[in-house]
Order: sequence, then C-alpha cells, then structure tokens
Amino acid sequence: MSAAVPVSSRLPVFPWDRLEPYKATAAAHPDGIVDLSVGTPVDPVPELIQQALVAAADSPGYPTVWGTETLRDALTGWVVRRLGAAEVTHRNVLPVVGSKELVAWLPTQLGLGAGDKVAYPRLAYPTYEVGARLCGAEPVVYDDPTELDPEGLKLLWLNSPSNPTGRVLPKDELTRIVAWAREHGVLLLSDECYLELGWEAEPVSVLHQDVCGGTYEG
Ligand SMILES: Cc1ncc(COP(=O)(O)O)c(C=O)c1O
Repeated sequence: MSAAVPVSSRLPVFPWDRLEPYKATAAAHPDGIVDLSVGTPVDPVPELIQQALVAAADSPGYPTVWGTETLRDALTGWVVRRLGAAEVTHRNVLPVVGSKELVAWLPTQLGLGAGDKVAYPRLAYPTYEVGARLCGAEPVVYDDPTELDPEGLKLLWLNSPSNPTGRVLPKDELTRIVAWAREHGVLLLSDECYLELGWEAEPVSVLHQDVCGGTYEG
C-alpha cells in the first residue's frame, strides 16, 4: 500500500506568503511602503454587541446547526426585503460559522472530486481555489464565465461586488450568467458578502426575482 498523500500538498501557498517578497521590495523604497492590507479587524467591539454577548452567555446546551427560529426569520426576511427574492422558507437558509468555511468545504460537501471542475474569477478571493483543491477537483479561472467549456464543470463561483477588484456585475449580466449555468447544468454559487457595500453601483443579488426568475433551480 502506498503512503497516503496529505491533502495539504494539494493546497496553494497562502497569498500573504506569496506577497512577502514584494512587501520587502516596497519597504526598501526610500519613501517606504503604502500598506493597504486590512486583515484582522482592529476597531473596538461596540458596547451594544459586548452587552448582547454577555447577556446571552448563560446558554447551556448544543446549538442547533440551522440556528434559532428567530435567526431564521431574520435571514429569510432580509433576503426578501433587501435582495428582492421571491418566497424564501426556513429550508432555504443556513447560518454558517464564517463564509470562509463554507466556501472552502462546499465542493467537498457536494461530493465533488477528481474529474470535476470548479470555476471562479481569474482575480479572486483565494478560498475558491482552496475549496476546489481540497476535494480534488480541477480549479479553472475565467474572465467571462459564459466562455467556459461546460464539460465537467460542476460549480461556478460568482463574487459581486468582487474582492479584490470591487467590480459589480450589472443585473443583465447576472441574468445572462444564471441562464447560461442553468442551460449547461452547472451549479452557480454567488458569494455576495459585500452586497451592502455598493459605492458607485447598486449591487444586485442572484436571488433577485428579475435575475433568477423567482426560482432557485441551479
Ligand atoms: C469574497 C469573500 N468571500 C468570503 C470571505 C470570508 O468571510 P468570512 O469568513 O469572514 O465570513 C471573504 C473574506 O475576506 C471574502 O473576501
């Protein structure tokens, strides 16, 4: 029996480590470096949040995976009110520990593996690639997703507004991509964690009725 190959050997070098040499070059400049990295939040935790956490601290027992009814009401309410989604039930929402965990593990949880492809924007949040590699699928990058070869493509990530470019996909562009994914039987996953942070454009969700036609197929 051959020795098991550790999963870590499939994973890419973390971007912050890849950036280290560039940082050193910039720091050597006479005027120094303009470091725009954000990383760990540094602002104080608002009093209101601290108090709410303390007030809820005495809660023995295991939490349920899909959260309390109140939380699920808040989630479905926001999706309808803010995103313009059609009917959304408690079965359509799931709180997660952090979206990073979901992004990284979802391809595995969906049963993807060798022979499958996972696509994401050429310049993207690095965890899409990590998720593809964790399950043994082939990572594929795109400029326009509808130009991808759908053969073997199981999962397509969108990210609007984008990290790191800030690009916002207009509603008709989203509609076109959703239609393409459905036509080719590709599961579309839309990471919209910056949806509330539109600046010059008004970001639209794939869950908006005009984009998905009021159904969540695919
Ligand atoms: C595009 C994108 N998706 C997901 C995440 C993960 O967010 P969190 O794990 O904090 O929910 C980030 C964080 O930087 C991100 O930029």
